[in-house]
Formats: sequence, structure tokens, C-alpha cells
Amino acid sequence: MSVPREDGFVHLADYTPPAWRVVHADLAFDLDPDATDVSARLELQPDPAQPGAPLVLDGEALTLLAISLDGQPLDASRYRHDGRQLHLHGVTDACVLETRVRIHPAGNTRLEGLYTSCDLLLTQCEPEGFRRITFFIDQPDVMPRWRIVLRAPRDAYPVLLANGNPVGTRALGGGRHEAIWENPHPTPAYLFAIAAGALERVTRTVTTMEGREVELNVWAEPADVPRCGYALGAVERSLRWDEQRFGRAYDLDVFNVVAAQYFTMGAMENKGLNIFNARYVLADQATATDADFMGIESVVAHEYLHNWSGNRVTLRDWFQLSLKEGLTVFRDSEFSADLHSRALKRIEAVRVLRGRQFAEDGGALAHPVRPDRYREISNFYTLTIYEKGAEVVRLLHTLLGEKVFRAGMDRYFADNDGRAATLEDFLAAHAGASGRDLAQFARWYSQAGTPELRITEAFDAAAGEYTLTVDQHLPPTPGQPDKQPLLIPLQLALYDASGAAINAPPACDAAVGEGRVELVARRHVLRWTGLAAKPLAAFNHGFAAPVKIVFDYAASDLARLAQLERDPFLRWDLLQQLATGALLRTLDPHAAAGALSDALADLLTDEAADPAFVAECLALPDFDTLAESVPVVDVDALIGAREALLDRLTEDQVEHLQARYEALADAAGDGLSGEAMGARALRNACLAWLTRLDPTAALAQAQFDGARGMTERLGALRCLVHFDAPGAEPALQAFRTAFADDPLVTDKWLGLVATRPHPETRDAIYALLRSPWWNPTNPNRVRAVLGAFARSNPLGFHRRDGGGYQLVAEQIAVLDAINPPVAARLLAAFEGWRRLAQPLRTRSREALAPLEGRLVSPDCRDLLQRLLAP
Ligand code: BES
Ligand code: ZN
Repeated sequence: MSVPREDGFVHLADYTPPAWRVVHADLAFDLDPDATDVSARLELQPDPAQPGAPLVLDGEALTLLAISLDGQPLDASRYRHDGRQLHLHGVTDACVLETRVRIHPAGNTRLEGLYTSCDLLLTQCEPEGFRRITFFIDQPDVMPRWRIVLRAPRDAYPVLLANGNPVGTRALGGGRHEAIWENPHPTPAYLFAIAAGALERVTRTVTTMEGREVELNVWAEPADVPRCGYALGAVERSLRWDEQRFGRAYDLDVFNVVAAQYFTMGAMENKGLNIFNARYVLADQATATDADFMGIESVVAHEYLHNWSGNRVTLRDWFQLSLKEGLTVFRDSEFSADLHSRALKRIEAVRVLRGRQFAEDGGALAHPVRPDRYREISNFYTLTIYEKGAEVVRLLHTLLGEKVFRAGMDRYFADNDGRAATLEDFLAAHAGASGRDLAQFARWYSQAGTPELRITEAFDAAAGEYTLTVDQHLPPTPGQPDKQPLLIPLQLALYDASGAAINAPPACDAAVGEGRVELVARRHVLRWTGLAAKPLAAFNHGFAAPVKIVFDYAASDLARLAQLERDPFLRWDLLQQLATGALLRTLDPHAAAGALSDALADLLTDEAADPAFVAECLALPDFDTLAESVPVVDVDALIGAREALLDRLTEDQVEHLQARYEALADAAGDGLSGEAMGARALRNACLAWLTRLDPTAALAQAQFDGARGMTERLGALRCLVHFDAPGAEPALQAFRTAFADDPLVTDKWLGLVATRPHPETRDAIYALLRSPWWNPTNPNRVRAVLGAFARSNPLGFHRRDGGGYQLVAEQIAVLDAINPPVAARLLAAFEGWRRLAQPLRTRSREALAPLEGRLVSPDCRDLLQRLLAP
């Protein structure tokens, strides 16, 4: 257990095992949105190594109705409840604690603990929500087995779900009924869940590789059930993939997924009862885009895969969060790569890393993949824990190779099954399986900041000698001024003047593997001899290392390498580098734009090129990625340069874009094949470029009117709205009306309006906040309007007068009282404020400073302090 120190922080170094364990938990719920009574019977055992340690349970927002110990009601002098914890005096031996508490789900706008979502009753317990349901030792290393009884009126709550296996149901008097569930696996409270309501389902039964029959169910409110089939298929694909790739079988008789309209996060991996944000469950082609379908499949996989990486092997403490999240993101990304295109999955991940995670790692909120202290753990569900954490697992996979990595994973699962583990346990399993010393590698977990590899080349023509000098630079981050060198596998390739790959490995003092060197020191010199001419070097194939490479290329080198490289990721990346160089003028802008234009022409006219890949190449580095590449962010200048380059490229390519758009019309028809999705992606990309040159937006209007599904419809509507086309308002109106009763589709058009790239969008947001569509208690709605504005509308959010910041700051203060984690996420949009060029730096500080006196939640207060810390 860890208690905060006087500085208000919980420290990793303070961890001690729990002084008391809950070995069995028996819960009974009398469900009612206005007053739910929870009876808990906990079998408690003291840790023999900590005799006499006081018995303290967590409990917040609970009304205590009854309490007894070993069957005897407890006198008020025997315990104390201070609103956060329940202290039991003089208890030293194993005992049974029984409590009855009352809670108020309908008033729970935090959506943590037991809450209402439309007519459903649902729970969300990670990380510390269970203490809002009943008194408990609410930390992940306390893992009882569970029995859960749910009672409710049958008409309002015909379906009663909980963790584990169903044991039985029976009718009670007065129109009430009861369901009993048992979860036989030791499970921490953060994985507890119940769901109750008028749910209906799609279902199928599968047999696992161990021969267990498992009923897979996806539950939703009745009107939504026709849109659950895709998610159900994704559950089955996930189950099969974990068997085949990791040898992991499912371990209960049922696997339930429930779709919720009110849900703060994307989805939650509760044991046997995953609860999902409806946007990651419900889909058909009329209402969901291709990106939605792909998102559903990968979120389903992520939560399913947690059953082993998170649930069977859980966390010792919250500092280990990346042990489940980073590992599971790695696993779900491998799932998507195996089922679809590995290269496209990698490109997608690298966009998020470069645009968002690198920014986090270089901003006010930077922290290591394993933080060493926190005030509020809910503020650490970050891109660093998730995405960088997944990259670190990928590094291990690269270093060890698939076979040894798999052996390490088998060992990790075998050694830690049923336990609460640490990142050391994870590394120990891989060290054991591989025989490698991973001590230096472990620094990836403890050091924050994105490493930079500064590479310089030299060629001695007389000697035929080519050298690359690689310097590892680790920037200082809050609390970590000095850093130790990391173990970095660097993939590289050299090409000679004819374009042939030079296969000879370099002479150097670093270990050399297949096409890579393993950097361990601050500097390495790599040397090749016997070369007739200076070769061309290419780095970081597949983005194997999550680092920034600094190397002085000429535009013509990048273009040539983009032709020579066989690694599709790197080909994409080289074109991104050309674009970045043109935009930031680190390359001769004319030469870079010309080379990029030629490369795009080749791609657009190459019938053999995968349309989805071409679409990725047309998507130039976004604002976040550009902002991340400069020391001081001049928002208007960056966006102005980007728009100018897009205009120029479109003028060059207009005929090719039109031809490609036309040629793919049939292939884009319908269906969810990779081919159809790729065709739609490229057509939408072409459409966005072509609309720049056409003030009437006739093509976009035609696509909107004739759309064969949501991908085409929304792609066209985005063009109409973002380019201020004459048809924008009528199209929006038609779209609004057609989907008026669908909250997920409503979020889509709200998102388009909120991201219209114009300073005036600020006023459109104020109008939305006064409209009937606004609902600050629904996190999806908040994200669609305010999240999209703050994160994806730089021209609006960073208005020169600070009006975008003011708007968002005001709303953060409102949301702080409704749903603190949602408010805190919005506040994190200010993480880069210190790097803004004036006057925006001052404007953002002026918007943040008054929040100091207004924000009350620990979540927001923690974040604000870190944002403003000198
Ligand atoms: N365990 C998390 C959900 C969660 C996050 C609960 C934060 C409480 C606080 C879940 O496994 C998860 O990571 N969900 C992601 C989506 C996933 C595909 C990365 C999410 O909710 O964003
Ligand atoms: Zn997760």
C-alpha cells in the first residue's frame, strides 16, 4: 500500500505490500437509481509480516447503514469514517467485516462507481471508483474471489450482469428478481463491474483451444442491437488471435460486452464484463465511417486482450500502469497489423506518437513510462503510459526477435498468473528467456523525454571510407535534468550510387544485428570501407526506435531514398520529411516541394500502389507534428505555410487527383473489404485537395448527395463545412435532420463544426453551448465539441486575442464540478503553452491563471499546478 507523503504525492519508493488482504468478497446490490443499497461481506486476513497494522478501508460518498465484525454489530466507538477512509480500531486477526451502505447512482455525474447511463445502471471502477460503491481496500494488489448478487425490479432491469460466470437467477416477490454471479479468478476491485437494464444482445458460442465453450455476447439498448454485429465478430477475432499468436485462452463461460452512451473513456476491461463507450461498439455503414469500424475492432481487441495482460496478471500498484496498458496497446497493434496492413498500422501509430506523445514528452506534463510519484493517478492515463509504453515493448520485440520474445511472454504469464506484478517482473521474464541483461534497457521506463539521435556523415573519397557518427541526446524534463544513455536499436540501410543496397555491416563498437546496430553509449562511430562513392543512408525502418533522427539530408536525397526504399513505412516517412523540410524551410523549400510533388505524381499514377497507402502520403504532417518540430510555435505561420504548400501541390496534381478520384468510384462502392476502404480513403483525400481549388465545391456536393455510406457522406460534409462551400449550411441541416435521434452521429457533425479551421469558430462554439445539442454531462458530447476545438482546431483555439483559451478555460471550470477526469483531459490541451510564440504564450497563461482559484477537483488542481510550475 502507498499513502501520500506530506508533499501530497504518492511515491513509488514507498510501496509496501497490503497489511490486510480481502480473500473473499460477497456483495449484494438492491439496485435503484436513486438509492442503491450495497451489502458487503469481506473475509479479511492480516499480513503475518506486518502484525498489528491497523485495518483501514477506502470509502467515498457512501452512507453507512450498518456495520458488523464477525457477526457482531459494531459500536460507533470501534470505527471512524472520515469521508475517505474507514478506520477499524483494535482489529488484529482474520475476521469477517459486513457493511451495508447506500449510494446514489442517478446523481453520479463523475461516472465513477455506480452510475446511470440513460436507463441503464453501470459501473466504472478503474482506477479508484470501487471505493464509491462500498468500503474496500481499493488497490490493485488486493485480489479476492467474488460472489455478486444483483436484485432489481424485473420490468426496468430485466438483464442483470456482473463479473465472472452466471450461477443462477430467481424471481423475488413484488416484481423483483435476482441474479447471482461468481468470479473464481482472483481479481482486484478496479476490475469489478455490474450492468443492469433493458439490454438486448447479439450472441454466438465458440470453443476455445482448451475446449471450453464460451458464450460471447454484445449487449445494447434494443434499438441499437442491429448495430452490434461487427463488434461481436471483433470479439471472436480477438479471442482466436490471442490463442494463435500468444497461446492465451479465454477462461470463463461467458464474455459480455455492454455499450454505454455515457462513458468517460473508450472502454474498460472488467473481468468477463467489458463496458464500452457506445462509439466503440455500434456500427453499420449508414452511421459509421471506416475509421469507426477499425477503431471498434482495435478497442474490442484491446479490452479483450487485457484478460491476460492486466487481469490474469494484474498490477502491483498504479505506478506499473504501463505494464498492462503499454503491453496491451502493443498486443492490440500487433492484432491489427496481423489482420490488416502492418505498414498502415505503423503509420497511424507514428502519427500519434509524433504529433501527440512527443509533445507530451517535451511539455509541462512530461513523465516517464513509469512515473515515480503522482498526486492523482487518473491524470496518468497518458499517451506516454500507453503509446510510448507500447513502443518500449516493441523495442524489446525488435531486440529479442519474435521467437525469443514469445518465450519471454510465456514465461511472464506463467510466472505471474494470479499475481499483481511489476515492470521488473516483466523484464525479468524476458531477461530469463533471452539470457540478456536488460538493466540498461530498463531506463526506457524511468527516463522521460524523447531521445534524439544526431547523426553526421563523412566520406573520405581517397580511402573509400564512410563514417556515421551517432550521438544520443536526451533532453531534460521536469524533475530529470540529467539522463543516462539508453539502449537503442537503430535500423539502417546504405545505398550505393546505382541504388543497390550495401549489405556489409559497419565496423563499430556497438552490437550489430540484422540491418541494425544497438546503441548503448552517448556516441558511436560506424565505419564502412571499400566504397567507391559516398552512399545514401536511411534510418529507422519501421520506426523501430521511438526517437527523433536529426540528419542533414538534401531534398534530392530524400526523394531518391523514397524511390529506393522497400520499407513502406520509411517511404511514407521520407515524404513526410520532405514536406516538413519544405514547410519549416529546413530544406530548400522550392526543391523540397518540387521533389514531393514529383513523388506524389508517381504515386497517384501508379495503379499498383495501394490506395490506402497513397492516401497516407497525401496527408501532410499535421499541425501538432509541425509544432513539435520547432522550438517556438508560431501558429499562424505554421498553418499558413501548410495551406500554401497544399495549394501548390493541388495545383500541380489536379488532373491526377481527378483521374484517381474517378477511377476508384466503383471500388469505393460499399462493403468493408480492405480494397473498398482503401478506395474510399484515397477518394476522400483527393476530394479534400480538389475542393481547395473549387469555390463551388461541386464534387464534394455531388459526393454528399450520392453518398453510399457514412465514410463518403462525412468526408464530403467535412469538405463542404471546412471550405465554407455555398452548400455547407443546407448539407449540415439535412445531415442533422437525418440523424437527429442518433447521438453518435450527432457528435460527428458537431465535431466538424468545432474543427472548422477559422478563428470565428470560437463563436460557433459559444452558439453550440447554448443550443439544445449541448450536454456537459455526456463525455462524448464534451469531446465532440470542446475536445475537438481545443485539440484539433489550432486556428480557433489559438486565436490571437486568446478568446479560444478563454472559452475552453471557462468550460473547464464548469466541467470540473461535473466530471473531473473529463475536465482534466481538456486542461491537458494547454500542455504546450510555454512554447507558444507571443502573444499567445501570455494569452494562454492569462486564461489558466484564474482557474487557480476556481478548480476544486484534485484531478484538475494537480494538472493545473503541473502546467503552471515554473
Ligand atoms: N483500462 C482502460 C480504461 C480506463 C482508462 C479506465 C482510464 C479508467 C481510466 C482501457 O483498457 C483502455 O485503455 N481504454 C482506452 C482505449 C484503448 C483502445 C487504448 C480508452 O478508454 O481510451
Ligand atoms: Zn487498456
